[in-house]
Amino acid sequence: MVEPVLIVKGHFIHTPTADAYEVHENSCLVCVDGRVEGIYPVIPDRFKGCLVHDYGNRLVIPSFVDLHLHAAQFLQCGMGMTSQLLDWLGDYTFDLERQFQNREFARKAYTLFAEKLVACGTLRACIFASSSTQGTEELFEVLKEKKICAYVGKVNMDRNAPEFIIETTQASLDGTRYLIEKYQDEQRVKPIITPRFAPTSSPGLLKGLGALAVKYRLPVQSHLSENLDEIQWVQALFKRSKNYSDVYFKNNLFGQTPTVMAHGIYLGEGERDLVKKMDVMLAHCPDSNINVRSGIMPARTYLDLGLRIGLGSDIAGGHKIGLNEAMVRAIQLSKLVNLTDKTLKPLTVAEAFYMGTKGGGHFFGKTGSFETDFLFDALVIEDDAMIAQRYSLEDRLEKFIHVGDDRQICARYLEGEKL
Ligand code: GUN
Ligand code: FE
Repeated sequence: MVEPVLIVKGHFIHTPTADAYEVHENSCLVCVDGRVEGIYPVIPDRFKGCLVHDYGNRLVIPSFVDLHLHAAQFLQCGMGMTSQLLDWLGDYTFDLERQFQNREFARKAYTLFAEKLVACGTLRACIFASSSTQGTEELFEVLKEKKICAYVGKVNMDRNAPEFIIETTQASLDGTRYLIEKYQDEQRVKPIITPRFAPTSSPGLLKGLGALAVKYRLPVQSHLSENLDEIQWVQALFKRSKNYSDVYFKNNLFGQTPTVMAHGIYLGEGERDLVKKMDVMLAHCPDSNINVRSGIMPARTYLDLGLRIGLGSDIAGGHKIGLNEAMVRAIQLSKLVNLTDKTLKPLTVAEAFYMGTKGGGHFFGKTGSFETDFLFDALVIEDDAMIAQRYSLEDRLEKFIHVGDDRQICARYLEGEKL
């Protein structure tokens, strides 16, 4: 049973705004019905006698939010990344995704995926499954058992990919509708409309998916403007659209309901304006940008324009599922960018941390921070005693982000519930 009031003691660090950490040393966070009531130096009288989880000298931070990853690619993490995006899909990825038509395979592989995701501290995520309806059903069930919060999408594809992985337009829409009706009232694991990307979608499929998004008021996820060859291909396929974003926009798949697009590396001015106007979120996936040599998302420029950016591991374009890795790579890429353009300041650690917590957390409502009324999603971090004695809380967090892993996460909370 979940306690209505829980008090957590420790050192709290979070980023209510992107520009700096807020630190509460040796404090007590009061959580009521899963939400943060407040953070206090001592337990207020009215909460005396309530359940306390005391973490002493450990750090308590918001848990990670991964805005973009592919559960059906988890097994191939760290393999086959010599080619660029479009070849990589054909050489490696589609063949693995095909295996998820087998329920037993799907359950086993998705279980490995989910266990590692939770271990690494990602408790909310926007996830692509595969094009198999029954395989995707297995992913819903596995994630429900793990009790994490996720949007899960059956991947819609009806052209320009091998026969063994595409479906007819009707079958793709029917499978999507089946999953929506089965899972739309779930508390934590919910459906999201997921055209893989424009090139593998016929105009009829995009139209049908947009209609489902609007009818069932469901969020949308896809890929956008990741690779230059891909962009040319989209222009050739959708001659009547102004640009890549417009292909989705015209079909009610671009902010008409909450939308997250992975990458968005090469957005022109008009597209940037549309992203902002429609409040489309962008998932910055720095490891993937490097591994399949797509380019570098201009994160600093987009932040300055006021676009909403979260982080994605983009498993398996990205090779590491821990979102702290994405934070590090986002910072490193921004430093490289700064070497060639001094006007673009590198991302600070706090900014990267913000993107991986409250930034991406926006897609799930009030999550990703310990502000009052936010859902209490947290990780408790244990570091070495010699580090803990010598360094500030900010330094300790920076070190965990850079070199830490799942072995240092000693407790996880989601909506106030200890997992
Ligand atoms: N674009 C279309 N499919 C994919 C995919 O699986 N991964 C990445 N990174 N980009 C894509
Ligand atoms: Fe992706």
